[in-house]
Amino acid sequence: MQTLHVELGDRRYPIFIGSDLNPQALLKPYIKGRQVMIVSNTTVAPLYLQHYVTAIEALDKTVATCILPDGEKFKDIEHLNLIFNALLEAGFNRDCTVLALGGGVIGDMAGFASAAFQRGVYFIQVPTTLLSQVDSSVGGKTGINHPLGKNMIGAFQQPQVVLADMSQLKTLPPRELSAGLAEVIKYALLGDIEFLAWLETHMEQLVAGDATLLAEAVYRSCAHKARIVANDEKEQGERALLNLGHTFGHAIESYLGYGEWLHGEAVATGMVMAADLSQRMGWISLDDLERTKKIISRANLPIVCPKIPLDEFLAFMAHDKKVLNGQLRLVLMQQLGQAVITKEFDVELMQQAILANQE
Ligand code: NAD
Ligand code: GLY
Repeated sequence: MQTLHVELGDRRYPIFIGSDLNPQALLKPYIKGRQVMIVSNTTVAPLYLQHYVTAIEALDKTVATCILPDGEKFKDIEHLNLIFNALLEAGFNRDCTVLALGGGVIGDMAGFASAAFQRGVYFIQVPTTLLSQVDSSVGGKTGINHPLGKNMIGAFQQPQVVLADMSQLKTLPPRELSAGLAEVIKYALLGDIEFLAWLETHMEQLVAGDATLLAEAVYRSCAHKARIVANDEKEQGERALLNLGHTFGHAIESYLGYGEWLHGEAVATGMVMAADLSQRMGWISLDDLERTKKIISRANLPIVCPKIPLDEFLAFMAHDKKVLNGQLRLVLMQQLGQAVITKEFDVELMQQAILANQE
């Protein structure tokens, strides 16, 4: 097992990464009160819930559960309320802990519930998808969707501890594993050229689910994210780099309708568009662009999106959370492995980069 810390002063917390982790031993120091609410969904609960119930009950805690339907479309206020109902019906107090057992949807919802219930209770993340292990479980962003926008209602709520168990990835559908690899590749492209070379050496084994290599990929990704979050918890600056490919990706997801393409798939093609624009601006070479496309393809991720009318694509991009004072900011690659956030880009070249990477 490897351990990392997110350095946030007295809110510092560990990320445990390994296979067949022992939740009883690892969670013990981090469950403060006597009551634990495990939030999961109808897919993950039959696989892993009992393991955690048994481990936490052995710590002499009262465990209650809240099992939500599976899917991004349930990441809404109505289903958030089911978590509050469960907490209130179980008579949980201000020193209770909410534990998220699932992917990013469950982590975001349970985290937000824990931030709001009685103005804030303890929170633990047990991410069970690769995407949630390398991204959503670390850094404290939580929330739900609103009919007018994704992740528009939420809170920063850092967990007490994150437990990333590679053995749980064995049941993950290959398409979901690849979607998680998109976020792994993102860390390499935005700030770690050596990690890109490592991914180039191991990509086929990662796609095949090699647990040792996946643990290394999760460790390196989380180390990167933990450093950025420690410097810029509330995204006043550097944290926005973590959105490489996301502004283009959100436009693809929004146009196609959420659920058609997975988030990681849209981010993958979004990163190609960001690299393409960076190349057109003379920042990276054609070889760098080809290298970007190749590593994304080798992760079984799409490098082109379906044809989307340019005016609609641009309209969706304009809704991005990085728009400041009406001005779009993009995360681009100044060099391969070194991203910047900038409003200094040529709109004409951006449109060319979008059109060049559609079917
Ligand atoms: P998800 O939570 O929908 O999980 C994907 C699918 O895998 C679901 O069907 C789920 O039930 C299933 N699943 C989960 N673990 C499994 C396992 N071990 N075995 C078998 N099936 C399993 O999707 P995701 O990709 O984990 O997360 C996407 C969500 O994360 C989005 O809502 C996105 O907005 C959010 N997100 C948040 C942040 C953040 O910083 N908070 C960052 C990135 C993404
Ligand atoms: N997923 C981007 C962030 O956590 O900031």
